[in-house]
Amino acid sequence: MCGIVGYIGKQDATPIIIDGLGRLEYRGYDSAGVAVIHDGHIHLRRDVGKLSNLRDKVQADPLSGSIGIGHTRWATHGAPAERNAHPHISMDGEFVVVHNGIVENYLDLKHELMAEGVKFQSDTDTEVIVQLIERFAYNGAHGNLTEATRKAVSYLRGAHAIVVMSRAKPDEMVAVRIGNAGGVALGLGEGENFIASDIPAILEHTRRMIFLETRQIATITADSYHIQTLDSQPVQVDIQDIPYDPVTAAKGEFKHFMQKEIFEQARSLTDTIRGRIDFECGEALLPDLNLTVKQAQALNRIVTVACGTSYYSGLVGKFFIEQMARLNVEVDYGSEYRYRDPIIDANTAVLAITQSGETVDTLAAMEEARAKHATLWSIVNNIGSQAMRVSDGTITMNAGPEIGVASTKAFTASIVDQYLLALHLGSLRGTLTTEQRQQYAFDLGRLPDLVGRALETEAQVQALAALLHHYRDFLYLGRGINYPIALEGALKLKEISYIHAEGYPAGEMKHGPIALIDDQMPVLCIALKDALYEKMISQIEQAKARGGIVIAIATEGDTLIASKADHVLYVPETPTLLSPVVAVIPLQLLAYHIAVLRGADVDQPRNLAKSVTVE
Ligand code: AGP
Repeated sequence: MCGIVGYIGKQDATPIIIDGLGRLEYRGYDSAGVAVIHDGHIHLRRDVGKLSNLRDKVQADPLSGSIGIGHTRWATHGAPAERNAHPHISMDGEFVVVHNGIVENYLDLKHELMAEGVKFQSDTDTEVIVQLIERFAYNGAHGNLTEATRKAVSYLRGAHAIVVMSRAKPDEMVAVRIGNAGGVALGLGEGENFIASDIPAILEHTRRMIFLETRQIATITADSYHIQTLDSQPVQVDIQDIPYDPVTAAKGEFKHFMQKEIFEQARSLTDTIRGRIDFECGEALLPDLNLTVKQAQALNRIVTVACGTSYYSGLVGKFFIEQMARLNVEVDYGSEYRYRDPIIDANTAVLAITQSGETVDTLAAMEEARAKHATLWSIVNNIGSQAMRVSDGTITMNAGPEIGVASTKAFTASIVDQYLLALHLGSLRGTLTTEQRQQYAFDLGRLPDLVGRALETEAQVQALAALLHHYRDFLYLGRGINYPIALEGALKLKEISYIHAEGYPAGEMKHGPIALIDDQMPVLCIALKDALYEKMISQIEQAKARGGIVIAIATEGDTLIASKADHVLYVPETPTLLSPVVAVIPLQLLAYHIAVLRGADVDQPRNLAKSVTVE
């Protein structure tokens, strides 16, 4: 989704901005631009497509200036085209703006501005912001850029992250955040300051950051920052030290970030677990959840809200919490939740799962829960993100930056976080014996090693991908706790290879999807040695009887399965509750290798964005 980077200081702004935008490339975008102020004028370069196009343009026609803003755009209003790329300049060339979000009432505003004689140069909603500043706000604000911006945004409906510069004020920029259209981070340097929608963009320059809350406005110079609410109230500023190391975001020996991230999972899960389990007592240590025994015992329900892969993670977590903590868990899509007037009370905990912490649908579901007085928890990877900031308690994924748009290591980390949560709840609520807790803790301690062994399937998966990559439709079947893994396996394949794939609960196959099966339909069956194994074997037989090409994910040592399926990928035996984390590994690898063989852009699949900040 759209990314913003701003710089003000003594250095040349353009390379800092373009490099920063490069660190946000993983979010997905279709055009990019940069604007700097120099010699009393705003200078602009923009282009469609990859950032390399913008780089070439800047190289051919250089920009210089020590104050600037840049943007990567993911089209909402107006096609991907140079004229629609940000930054946008006002009609008289006085102001320039970058913006994330949607101006919901832009058409009304545009018509009003046009009636006043304003000529628009783009099809975007964003342009109304800069025209509003120039036409209506600035004169009334007596040359004060902050006041002009404040006034202009008072006309806007929707959620926004906005950064504005004025050619008359070459020593300041103004940033505003309203709602959940992505974050606005101020990075503090020595004699220079930065702005970014996401911290990786500026982490190379500073780790000291301030995150604007909703309805806050910041005026930034090279040596100062001043933050207020949009109602001109003072705010208490919290400077945070961000621990991420950008070096870990490099691709290293791998061809794609996705492949690297799949292979990181044995290590990243160790990081997720590290320091959070007392193996002797069988206790999960989650101080940032801020949960007391009294609160835990008063809980009557957990509602998990999430989108996409994070939603499937929630479906797995439901099994953990229900089994260990004996609490009813509902799992809902962030995009659906708030539209059905959900029943929530003070004894409901709403758990948001979001890798980015900025997914607007999930944030909106959290707002709904907050308004209804639920306890609000989040599982996030992106430290300092909005979901984390609005929660009463958080469990971080500790997976490190996930760059590939297709989520892999954050998926498994969020599952492990829910396992820890369930163990913690089970302990506080007294629903587990000490022996049970110790066993659950022991099982978790073995997980990174089991994941490492599952990764050894890669060569076999690659050979299988060579056989399968030409097929056009895939069916993924699973049961019980591995049904969500069928959904996730199918999602991974469609996201990055653009092959149609469906995940289904295996028992439902006979109620419809079985009609699809023929010799052109590979059927992926998660058939581990668990309580549902025999049921899965009979689903495999049903698929085979219709000519389907059956690929089984099976438990090492299972001798029967080879006689039932066409191909078998073996994973190490794993306790059932944790088996989804192991079973998903060959499915991630299969999606990856099929996509590579089809020549797809694995890390930045078409139409997708890493952080979905529009509704
Ligand atoms: C995952 O591969 C997808 N790209 C997508 O479904 C993602 O999981 C979803 O958009 C939710 O993102 P979040 O975890 O950052 O909230």
